[in-house]
Amino acid sequence: MRYTILLCSATALLAQTPDGAALFKARCAGCHAETTTARIPTRSDLAGRTPETVVAALNGGVMASQAQGLTAADMRALAVFVTGKELSATTETVAGQCTTPVAAFTTTAGDWNGSGLDAVNSRYQAKPGLSAADVPKLKLKWAFGFPGDKAAFAQPSIVGNRVFTGSAGGTVYSLDAKTGCIIWSYKAGAGVRTSVVIGRPKANGPYVAYFGDIRAFTHAVDASTGAPLWKVKVEDHPGARVTGAPTFFDGKLYVPVSSIEEGLAQSPQYECCKFRGSVVALDGDSGKQIWKTYTVSDPAIARKKSKTGSQLWGPAGAAVWSSPTIDATKKLVYVATGDSYTDSDIPTSDAVIAMDMATGKIAWASQVTEKDNFIMGCPKSPNCPDEEGPDADFGTSPILRSVGNGKRMLVVAQKSGIVWGLDPDQKGKVIWQTKVGSGGMLGGIEWGHGADESNAYVAVSDRIPAPGTEAKPGISAVKLATGEKVWSTPAPKAACEGMACSTAQSAPVAVIPGVVFSGSADGKFRAYATGTGAVVWEFNTAVPFDTVNKVQATGGSIDAAGPVIANGMVLTPSGYAQWGGKNGNVLLAFTVDGR
Ligand code: HEC
Repeated sequence: MRYTILLCSATALLAQTPDGAALFKARCAGCHAETTTARIPTRSDLAGRTPETVVAALNGGVMASQAQGLTAADMRALAVFVTGKELSATTETVAGQCTTPVAAFTTTAGDWNGSGLDAVNSRYQAKPGLSAADVPKLKLKWAFGFPGDKAAFAQPSIVGNRVFTGSAGGTVYSLDAKTGCIIWSYKAGAGVRTSVVIGRPKANGPYVAYFGDIRAFTHAVDASTGAPLWKVKVEDHPGARVTGAPTFFDGKLYVPVSSIEEGLAQSPQYECCKFRGSVVALDGDSGKQIWKTYTVSDPAIARKKSKTGSQLWGPAGAAVWSSPTIDATKKLVYVATGDSYTDSDIPTSDAVIAMDMATGKIAWASQVTEKDNFIMGCPKSPNCPDEEGPDADFGTSPILRSVGNGKRMLVVAQKSGIVWGLDPDQKGKVIWQTKVGSGGMLGGIEWGHGADESNAYVAVSDRIPAPGTEAKPGISAVKLATGEKVWSTPAPKAACEGMACSTAQSAPVAVIPGVVFSGSADGKFRAYATGTGAVVWEFNTAVPFDTVNKVQATGGSIDAAGPVIANGMVLTPSGYAQWGGKNGNVLLAFTVDGR
């Protein structure tokens, strides 16, 4: 007995202290000598790095293949030996770090990269790595808890063998898709609500992970190691934020800029309003601004005084909440905008705007709701527009699809409860409109529809329907070519009263051949047959979970951040309570039979 204990602790002691010098000699010195050929860091060059960088290079970074077969302890010993510095305590103690080396970062044809999966924002995964028949067999594979965060804030992306996700606390994580362990984490300094999009701005250069934060910074970090590359503030207005994921295309990044000014504006002292939505094009490699185009052509000017004497300004508004959409044929970028904040009417609020990819010049704007002048806290606030609009923002990205006979359609869904079919080849002319929900402040379609080759699948929130109308939460399918309704499946009756029991389906959806996934504000995660709208699978996420990183975690509302599907995995965050829903802090990963 005593002997066994002794033996165990001796083994443990040995396992904790691998010989860094010997490992280096055997594995690294051959290349990293005192003098090396170009592109290989010298021995003394490596000594100047931080031990964290060395671990990151070995654990899934550029040196992953040289580190094959090494344990996490080997890597730490190597890092300490190479740099002559101790690792900072946090690196070793943060729970949930991967303890076995992960394979080098790669991309695959079936990734869910960024917000809408592809540059046309289809939210349609054609190669999901599981079939419609597999969906009823989905079981939980792992749960990741956001430490210290009260919210599951961001939609994850799945690229190659890794999951990327932001968090309310401002930490961006790269997780091993198989197990959910942490490969790297990066502190953005402000909440990251956008999806992460991976791009390769320079041929043969590193893959770069891009995302935006709620202080309107755009960040670029090395996708395999999390090493910071650059960080750029895209808008100086104090209410500005980036909520939609940047879109990466052809080496450039198109960043949508939105704001919370319509919330700040309700305070009587606030001089409402000056923010203008915009799209900022950045060089993906350097972060240098190429162009910035405002969605409101003229800057705000001083107008009248409010009842309580505050100076009022305008025009303002037309925030861009969602990811830009790329038209590679016409070399245009499409964005959908939110409401106007003041009485100065603008022709570009609640609109789809087309911008030239190279210059940012506006090619056309197609407004679907005029004079939607709105701030929060009306009619009480002295800053309210004389006539208050319906708050019918576009929170969704336009989806660009071919619909046969050489025709194309931009399908975009609005908080009014209306799905719109616009012709991108006739300056956004409205071809059809179909009402699928009652609409309202937290009504209609909030964050995203998805589309396969024939239909759009549109989830409806109606959490707070327009005054005098009845809430109609649920999900509908409409034909892309005509807008004809194919089916509608209402949400089940709420099990209890109050916002936390709301059955609103405001989260964006995710589509695979034969199945569409949609989450609800009461935490139900469901799969529907795309042919009939029948529910084929359901999972209650609003419960506690054991997490791979040992964080106490529970699910809650599925809301602004929705599901994604890639490489045989279905992921959803759960716990977004910004609008009176249920708090929570998990990211859930499902696979067929939990394998
Ligand atoms: C076959 C040659 C070779 C071997 C063996 C090798 N390296 Fe490297 N190493 C390279 C090259 C080449 C680069 C530069 C890669 C690049 O950035 O393009 C590099 C870069 C690095 C970097 C810098 C990474 C960064 O992100 O800046 C570190 C740290 C490193 N190696 C550590 C090690 C350690 C520790 C070992 C032993 C386990 C090792 N290398 C074994 C060739 C090698």
